[in-house]
Amino acid sequence: MKRAGVMGWPVEHSRSPLLHGFWLKEHRIDGAYVLLPVRPEELAAALRGLAARGFAGCNLTIPHKAPALAIVDQVDATAARIGAVNTVIARPDGMLEGRNTDAFGFRENLRAAQPGWRAGAGPAVVLGAGGAARAVVAALLDDGAPEIRLVNRSRDRAAALAAALGGPIELVDWARRAAALAGAALLVNTTSLGMTGQPPLDLALDALPQAALVNDIVYVPLETPLLRAARGRGNPAVDGLGMLLHQARPAFAAWFGVTPEVTPALRQAMAASLASR
Ligand SMILES: NC(=O)c1ccc[n+]([C@@H]2O[C@H](COP(=O)([O-])OP(=O)(O)OC[C@H]3O[C@@H](n4cnc5c(N)ncnc54)[C@H](OP(=O)(O)O)[C@@H]3O)[C@@H](O)[C@H]2O)c1
Repeated sequence: MKRAGVMGWPVEHSRSPLLHGFWLKEHRIDGAYVLLPVRPEELAAALRGLAARGFAGCNLTIPHKAPALAIVDQVDATAARIGAVNTVIARPDGMLEGRNTDAFGFRENLRAAQPGWRAGAGPAVVLGAGGAARAVVAALLDDGAPEIRLVNRSRDRAAALAAALGGPIELVDWARRAAALAGAALLVNTTSLGMTGQPPLDLALDALPQAALVNDIVYVPLETPLLRAARGRGNPAVDGLGMLLHQARPAFAAWFGVTPEVTPALRQAMAASLASR
């Protein structure tokens, strides 16, 4: 039996077992995907012990994504740029490979939800400069975004992101977020604002062209006030659940040998589970 899991502290909230469990069942794979509660000080030993326990690898969540960079034997180029590992492959030879699939998940979600979408279409506005923003900006840069307006409350954090990733990134003060939307082809919210239990995202969309694609990577609730407002004024809008589902595909493929698909049935199962939180 092949095994994988998600390491975090805490980790009980993770919906990854439902997601990977869905695919294991769909593909009739003799495997398991489990929660792996691991304290920060135990991370290195837990990762080193994966193969011996019959694990093909694991996902990493808070607070392990950045510390894992210094533990694994190999880090792929995307994980190194983003500064975080979300997927670990425990190879049979004992080597640990660290990858980051969040940029892939972001890109695939937009492509699947909005066929024909291209990062090169025009300026992108990215709200937020946290861990998720790094993956989003990396994907946009790789896909040829001509200009990224990075809007964050803490300018230092945005400056650090821009310095780490390079490219055509313009820093915009949080107070100027509404004006930054003028002429944009894409707006992505990567802040936690608008998430259940967090403050709302206060953003006037008046300056945003109607053709601009709006993506909120917050997925609880699925239909955030930002997405509702965008759809209400005629903008195409894409929710964040697809990013979560797509980022899991390359990891599942590496561990279990089958590349799974994001189907309406999977989306429905995950959305129902998230709604019952
Ligand atoms: N769909 C997916 O697959 C996916 C993947 C990853 C994350 N996410 C979601 O993305 C969100 C961010 O995750 P993360 O890991 O990047 O978190 P993070 O590293 O903690 O970053 C949070 C971001 O939100 C900003 N922020 C928080 N409170 C704010 C406020 N009151 N006013 C203005 N800005 C505020 C922060 O600004 P400062 O820098 O100024 O603090 C920072 O830019 C979460 O809701 C998470 O669930 C979704």
